[in-house]
Amino acid sequence: MLAQKQVGECFMAITVAVSNQKGGVGKTTTALHLAVATALTGRRVLLIDLDSQANATTALGVPEATVEAPGSYHALINGDGISPRWPQATAIPHLSVLASSLEMAGVELELSGETDRLHRLRPVIATMADSFDWIFLDCPPSLGILSVNALVAADTVLIPVPPEQFALDGMARLTSTIERLNDAGQTRIEKPMILITMAQNWAPAKMKRALEIRQTHGEAVLVAEIPHSNALDEASGDRTPVFLTRPNADASENYLRAAAELIMRHEPGQSLTPENVEAMVAEMRQQMKPLVSRNAPDAVLSDPPARHKRHRRHRSRSGDGPKIYRSRRRLQQAIGASLLIIISLFITVLVVDA
Ligand SMILES: Nc1ncnc2c1ncn2[C@@H]1O[C@H](COP(=O)(O)OP(=O)(O)O)[C@@H](O)[C@H]1O
Ligand SMILES: [Mg+2]
Repeated sequence: MLAQKQVGECFMAITVAVSNQKGGVGKTTTALHLAVATALTGRRVLLIDLDSQANATTALGVPEATVEAPGSYHALINGDGISPRWPQATAIPHLSVLASSLEMAGVELELSGETDRLHRLRPVIATMADSFDWIFLDCPPSLGILSVNALVAADTVLIPVPPEQFALDGMARLTSTIERLNDAGQTRIEKPMILITMAQNWAPAKMKRALEIRQTHGEAVLVAEIPHSNALDEASGDRTPVFLTRPNADASENYLRAAAELIMRHEPGQSLTPENVEAMVAEMRQQMKPLVSRNAPDAVLSDPPARHKRHRRHRSRSGDGPKIYRSRRRLQQAIGASLLIIISLFITVLVVDA
């Protein structure tokens, strides 16, 4: 594919650590969907799963790593023994995953005595860097050895933050850790990026927090904002990226936009304009079509025109958005069905009487 070739010839992999020491803020969901969306442009993408829960691994249909099929744990422990053949291909073209496994839960303890314990991931990335254009790191929910390894190895950090105070506290601690690592010459991260996740634009307190995040952090915050989405929650239950189960959901659209923005902020020669983002999202949606029809033949992948219209339509088609909309729709369906039954009974009585 053209984009892949051009990118591949121009520079080595750009590595993004998706990190926030708080759990449940959308790190894995974000790393997974940005990796899939980026791969949809034809760029060669590697997702390195650093979490012992291996949710990113299994969401891509790849089994947890084993000694026979080694993954991120083995790469961190083995050092020089790592091979560029370890990443496993997924059902998404151009996307591979370096699988995690439960053993990762003990890796911090295993590495604690090693002098190079904070620099174990860098050589792993160096081994892979020629084979990929983008590498996403799904970090665990802590600021321990694994997360610091990711920060040290990354070119940039993306912090998923729901508009809630606890997540903002977590973000403050992470940014001060990055500053300290930067001062010590350990990292090359200029400015962390922030992605607002689980936004609820019908809840005043959450809207206010989201606005505060934008006012405080300015351009570091991606324009795309991920809504709190039942579609995403369901997709994670199905262990499938939301693009394939609910391609028209707001969450799908915004993860595509976030990925396009990320690419335009970091690749040389790209410029971040709304038109360029639209064009790249259209390209991603084009590549999604065969995958969607294979995975969810009933899902119609629309080519939405105006943005505001699209958002309104998604709510009714995809079942995305707040539960209240969905329950109202279910209530309407139930009333319709009841009316139909009453009319049928009425007609039956009339016929029997006659
Ligand atoms: N935008 C969202 N809306 C609704 N649920 C979400 C959203 N993002 C993630 N989730 C769900 O929240 C849970 C935690 O998300 P996850 O990405 O695993 O967080 P983390 O990796 O930070 O622990 C998962 O069940 C996931 O499906
Ligand atoms: Mg996670």
